[in-house]
Amino acid sequence: MTPSRRTLISRAITTLALSALSALPALAQGSPKLKVGLMLPYTGTYAAMGNAIENGFRLHITEQGGKLAGREIEFVKVDDESDPSKATDNVNKLIKRDNVDVLIGSVHSGVAMAMAKVAKDTGTMLIVPNAGADAVTGPMCASNIFRSSFSNWQPGYAMGEVVAKKGHKKVVTITWKYAAGDESIRGFKESFEKGGGKVVKELSVPFPNVEFQALLTEIAAAKPDAVYTFFAGGGAVKFVKDYAAAGLKKTVPLYGAGFLTDGTLDAQGADAADLLTTLHYADSLGTPRDNAFRLAYAKAYKLQPDVYAVQGYDAAQMLAVGLTAVKGDISKKAEFSAALEKARIDSPRGPFTLSKSHNPVQDIYLRQVGGKKNKLVSIASKALADPGRGCKL
Ligand code: BEZ
Repeated sequence: MTPSRRTLISRAITTLALSALSALPALAQGSPKLKVGLMLPYTGTYAAMGNAIENGFRLHITEQGGKLAGREIEFVKVDDESDPSKATDNVNKLIKRDNVDVLIGSVHSGVAMAMAKVAKDTGTMLIVPNAGADAVTGPMCASNIFRSSFSNWQPGYAMGEVVAKKGHKKVVTITWKYAAGDESIRGFKESFEKGGGKVVKELSVPFPNVEFQALLTEIAAAKPDAVYTFFAGGGAVKFVKDYAAAGLKKTVPLYGAGFLTDGTLDAQGADAADLLTTLHYADSLGTPRDNAFRLAYAKAYKLQPDVYAVQGYDAAQMLAVGLTAVKGDISKKAEFSAALEKARIDSPRGPFTLSKSHNPVQDIYLRQVGGKKNKLVSIASKALADPGRGCKL
């Protein structure tokens, strides 16, 4: 055979081999990296939460040797700025430009609802590691959408029972005017009024406004038995400090969904002392599972974990459950979802399962601020399941 004929034949073989390879599913080519789209706030009032969620997520993957179901993880990150008006564009870029295999996000309910709409339309797997928007596991629920955190209804409902049992009758509520605040108040009101109390005034400021002075003056004038609130992140720090500075802490007991004092205690200092809140995590659970998590997190990041870190860690645990069931092939969506639907997630918060609409069924703790910790007081609501109203799955 002449040298030029040999070259031609060898080129033809190479071309054939390459085209055969590209026709194989990605997995058969030696487990390419799994692309995880992290859509979280890295700036603004919720920035610290975005970072804690990412830290928790990465910690679980590190504990698994850097791979889930044999696949290395590649991250594509977007700062969603907690801005719902940019959310649809941001999530579309992750799916269409970056070709992510799975979406993790976000913190803000408005952003998460935009993500859920796109995830449902495109069939992209979505795990929500914070945002509690009731709709995500309500009317917007879908077989490919899961939550590792809570619904806004859950901590609010649990606190309504606590406040009613304490004998308070007349409560004023105050929050940010958006889904998270509205739904937290609605959950509170549902159980508080069932328990014999009355919400006499519902106050709000637009998100992420922190000008509370005029509303604090209204609270003082209304002289309620207690106040219930939803604020989080930087807004929660400012609210707790302003509430104390207005002299209200001494006269009107303040109760909140636990975000009020989670990840915020360093900045709130003495103004947060003794506050009672309800949440699906506390800093002093003392279980071997939680102790190990807290130790590993502190070692990895030189920081104490908070509820957001736990939710990020559990989002990675949930991804691992689904991926393991499909041996790393996330295109097998029905099998991925079926595995999660029957999973029991061994969370630092305590084990949880997922409701029919894919929201954690979990204990909601009553906690009290002591020093730099949200200390466990009791279980306010055992295995509380969001009603999943409007979900058809
Ligand atoms: C939300 O927007 O759903 C949310 C934000 C921060 C803490 C909790 C809930």
